[in-house]
Amino acid sequence: MNPWSQVPYADYERHMNHETVGQLALMSEITNEKVEQRYPQTVAVYGACTGNGFVHFVEARTVYAVDINSTYLAICYERYEPILNELILVQADINQDAVAIPPDSTDLIVCHLFLEYVDLGRAFASIRQTLRRGGLLNVVIQRSNDSGWVSNTGVTTLQPVAAIAHEIAEETLFQHTAPALRFEGRQTYRMPNGKSLISYDFIKQ
Ligand SMILES: C[S@@+](CC[C@H](N)C(=O)[O-])C[C@H]1O[C@@H](n2cnc3c(N)ncnc32)[C@H](O)[C@@H]1O
Repeated sequence: MNPWSQVPYADYERHMNHETVGQLALMSEITNEKVEQRYPQTVAVYGACTGNGFVHFVEARTVYAVDINSTYLAICYERYEPILNELILVQADINQDAVAIPPDSTDLIVCHLFLEYVDLGRAFASIRQTLRRGGLLNVVIQRSNDSGWVSNTGVTTLQPVAAIAHEIAEETLFQHTAPALRFEGRQTYRMPNGKSLISYDFIKQ
């Protein structure tokens, strides 16, 4: 059983919005930046959770929300289906299931704090398949900077997911992206809890 199936969505949001964490607002802002750069018609969000940042996809024709946790996806649908043109939920365990998105169909893939919990080979195989040539992949990964993987916000239900998290070295990331996904640039954001978030852009060749 994947521990992400057990974390109540309200606990996840409370933790991520805690003043010492403050990550949801930043990741939503990064998503907005990518939308404004690319004006994507088709977007896929891997590890969509309850839909942080989906408010920026109102101009897109189709948005795919990919996640293992069907409760998170149901909340995402309830919140964002009313404002989006087409929201398609893809409930899948990336480590073992096929992701039902047509090949070469997405203009933008958003992948924030997802790779740390999954099989990188499987995740990148799916991303390479669904992203169209010339499409943008935006990845956000976390550096804990020796401050512990999960900050102490009083939310204890996140501890089991911390146990499966692995910090991703940049070298490892590039091993999985090259040569099909060309590195375009990175930006580092220092967070109030001492951690950093690093945003990477890649273009499919
Ligand atoms: C740390 S959360 C990040 C959520 C969101 N991207 C954000 O920015 O807040 C990781 C998300 O990935 C999902 N996830 C973890 N492992 C997965 C897997 N094997 N297959 C699909 N989704 C997975 C979790 O359910 C969770 O919603």
